[in-house]
Amino acid sequence: MNLVLMGLPGAGKGTQAEKIVEAYGIPHISTGDMFRAAMKDETELGLQAKSFMDKGELVPDEVTIGIVRERLGQKDCEDGFLLDGFPRTVAQAEALEQILADLNKKMDYVINIQVDQSILMERLTGRRICKSCGATYHLVFNPPAKSGVCDRCGGELYQRADDTPETVQNRLDVNAKQTQPLLDFYSEKGYLKNINGQQHIDQVFVNVDQLLKGLK
Ligand code: AP5
Repeated sequence: MNLVLMGLPGAGKGTQAEKIVEAYGIPHISTGDMFRAAMKDETELGLQAKSFMDKGELVPDEVTIGIVRERLGQKDCEDGFLLDGFPRTVAQAEALEQILADLNKKMDYVINIQVDQSILMERLTGRRICKSCGATYHLVFNPPAKSGVCDRCGGELYQRADDTPETVQNRLDVNAKQTQPLLDFYSEKGYLKNINGQQHIDQVFVNVDQLLKGLK
């Protein structure tokens, strides 16, 4: 099962990825998570990525493509993978085609979670994430049972540095510009599957699951 999850910032990629990984056991490869881990460890990649992420800009293609190429070549991706947040530009999509050809793999679906841009600001500024296990919550739409504490592991919840209103606005603008050419690219290849992301989180997953059951 070789999958890509697409959608504007806040569309619900990470939320649905958690559920897909639990149901299908494929590795979740989020370029955003990889950059944040590198920033935390203060590696050279982290320092490079930080200057772009802090402003809500995209990290340059050559950096991003390099880390995905390396990650997809790892053993745990042999039976499938779930890419989240990559590709984000046509250049990245073309590079991914080449990476998959080199690894003798083919794409199954590109799942595009569709959400109207007008509701994404509220989703992102209200998001909270667990410091320990990475589970995602929302203050209103998906609150933890106890404020500030992860239901799953008891870890402390925090707000991402790029979830401030100014940075969110720039992320939305930057990503909206890149999205249509990418959708056209995958639509022409026949991989694109659109999912309505403006339903309850569980209902979005029901739709994703229906799609993926067809691949088993
Ligand atoms: P990344 O970490 O990928 O962030 P993003 O694309 O901005 O997406 P998010 O993680 O913010 O949103 P999501 O769609 O996962 O939503 P979530 O499920 O959390 O990238 C961060 C940065 O890294 C980029 O800006 C860029 O600088 C860099 N980067 C990463 N990849 C790159 C690449 N390929 N090229 C270049 N640069 C790259 O949900 C959001 C909130 O909504 C949560 O609170 C959740 O609980 C809630 N929610 C989810 N679903 C629903 C629903 N159905 N109803 C109500 N609420 C919901």
